Amino acid sequence: MVEFSKEMLNKKILLMSCTFTILFISLIVINNVNIKGLGPNIAHADTVSYTTTANLNIRTGPSTTNKIITTVTKGSQLTATEKATDGWLKISYKGQTGYVSSKYIKVSSAATDDIQVIAQPESIPVLVNKKNKLPDHYVPDDLVYTTIPFTFKEKTEKKKMRTEAASAIADLFKGAKKQGVSLLGVSAYRSHATQTSLFNYYVKRDGYDKTITYSAFPGTSEHETGLTIDVTGGDGKCAAEDCFGDTTEAAWLQENVADYGFIIRYPKGKEDITGYKYEPWHLRFVGKEIAQTIMSEGITLEEYYDAKRVATK
Ligand code: DAL
Ligand code: ZN
Repeated sequence: MVEFSKEMLNKKILLMSCTFTILFISLIVINNVNIKGLGPNIAHADTVSYTTTANLNIRTGPSTTNKIITTVTKGSQLTATEKATDGWLKISYKGQTGYVSSKYIKVSSAATDDIQVIAQPESIPVLVNKKNKLPDHYVPDDLVYTTIPFTFKEKTEKKKMRTEAASAIADLFKGAKKQGVSLLGVSAYRSHATQTSLFNYYVKRDGYDKTITYSAFPGTSEHETGLTIDVTGGDGKCAAEDCFGDTTEAAWLQENVADYGFIIRYPKGKEDITGYKYEPWHLRFVGKEIAQTIMSEGITLEEYYDAKRVATK
C-alpha cells in the first residue's frame, strides 16, 4: 500500500513537472507572439500623422495633471510614436515629444490616403497634387530671381523660379505688355517652411476643411517646385482673389499662357479632379508642347496624365 502510494506520488510529481514545463514553454511562445504582434503596430504608429481638431495642449505625461509643454493650434500635424493608452497618445511635434488627449485629433488625410512620393521632382512637367508629394527636403537646385515686377518690393524667395520658368514668365509678361496687358507677380517659389506657415495660418483663420480646398498641404504645393507663379493685374487689386477671374488680365492669360509654356493649373469646373477651387491666377510652367495640349483641350494636368482623380478631402 505504502509502495503503491510512493509510486503514485512519483507519477504525480512527474506529471506536475511536465505540466509546469508545458505551461512555461507556452507562456514564452505566447509572449513572443505578442511581442511579434506588437512590432508592426508600433512601426505603423510611427508613420501615422494626426491633425488636431482643436487648439491642444501637449503635456509631459498622459493626463491633465502633467505639465503643458506647448499648445498647438487646431489643424496642426502630429506624428504618433506609440499606440494610445487610456485616451492619451504619445506624439512628436516639431522635434518635441509629449502626450495629447486622443479626443482632439483625427488621422490626417496625409496619412490615410495613399500618397506617392514623386520620384523625379526636378522633371519640368512633374505632377504634384494631393496624391503626389515632393520628397522631404526637396529644394530645386536652379532657382533664380525672376526679372518681372511684383506687387511688393522686397527681394524674397517668393520672387524666385527655376531658370526655365523664370525666363518663360519674363517672356509672358513682355508678350502681355505688347498687347496692352499689364501684370504683376504675387508669389512664385515657396520653400517648404513658407508653405507650412502659410497653410497653418489659413487653418487657423478658416479651419482645416476649408483650407484644403484652396491651399496645398505642405509638400504637395506646386509653389515648392519653383515652376509656379501667382499673378495679378497691374493695379495689384484682386491678388489671389476670386474677383481676378472677371478681369481682362485673367481673360488674356486664359488665351495666351500656353504659348509661353504655362497652364492655368486649377480651372473652373475641374475642382473634383484637381482637388482645388478655381484659381485663374495660378500659372504652372510645364513646357510649350504639353501646355498647348492641355489648354487647347481644356483639360487638367491630372487628365493629361490620365492620373487618378483626387477628391477635395
Ligand atoms: N493654392 C495652391 C493650391 C497651393 O497652395 O499650392
Ligand atoms: Zn498659387
